[in-house]
Amino acid sequence: MNVIVCENYDEMSAKAFEVMKEVVAKGNVVLGLATGSSPVGLYQCMIKDHEENGTSYKSIRTYNLDEYVGIDRDNAQSYYTFMKENLFDHIDIDPENTHVPYGNCKEDCEAYEAQLDKVSIDLQLLGIGRNGHIGFNEPGTSFDELTHIVDLTPSTIEANARFFDNDMNKVPKQAISMGIGTIMKSKKILLVASGKDKAEAVKAMVEGPVTTDMPASALQNHPDVTVVVDKEAAGLL
Ligand code: GLP
Repeated sequence: MNVIVCENYDEMSAKAFEVMKEVVAKGNVVLGLATGSSPVGLYQCMIKDHEENGTSYKSIRTYNLDEYVGIDRDNAQSYYTFMKENLFDHIDIDPENTHVPYGNCKEDCEAYEAQLDKVSIDLQLLGIGRNGHIGFNEPGTSFDELTHIVDLTPSTIEANARFFDNDMNKVPKQAISMGIGTIMKSKKILLVASGKDKAEAVKAMVEGPVTTDMPASALQNHPDVTVVVDKEAAGLL
């Protein structure tokens, strides 16, 4: 794992953008994308670069990691809406080339995994949950799992309540998520994390034993992972 420690969130986003841009510059590549507050700064760098330098996304295809179960795509809190608002609507990507999983059953999961099997993700972007989840792969998830329906843990529901009027009851209880097995198939992985809330998870991911109790520790088994963190998230390394 290549770990890059940055001064703050903005520097983390700019560093992550450098890694992303190198892949995008090749053209005709497939990006695995993530939601959450961690990648927003990187998405802003992509938009700025598109506007100022004309970097084009016309040949780029994207596949998102996850989506809540039980809310409509056009719900303000869906990850589909998040991606449109934070990235897709501001670059020249063809909406047909963007994919966010959607569904609530095994067949929906298998259909998404089948789409992923036809492409090969060149760069998978990840954030990390406070409990070490990646995508929505909560502690205990098998490393072989492919796209599947997940029951969210109380800690994840609590962490995400901020997007649902701080009301845990409004947070969906399930999600559809690429599995760790899916994530590990990508050629390159870029994980961003900031803030002291993530310090324990970052330490366990980088230095801890590889265990399903810490889903992100699976990344130690991947040959090409870049972790970009700010000083606070790196605080326990
Ligand atoms: C959610 C997402 C994850 C994300 C995590 C951390 O649970 N499913 O993909 O990495 O939250 O989010 P944030 O970056 O907002 O801390």
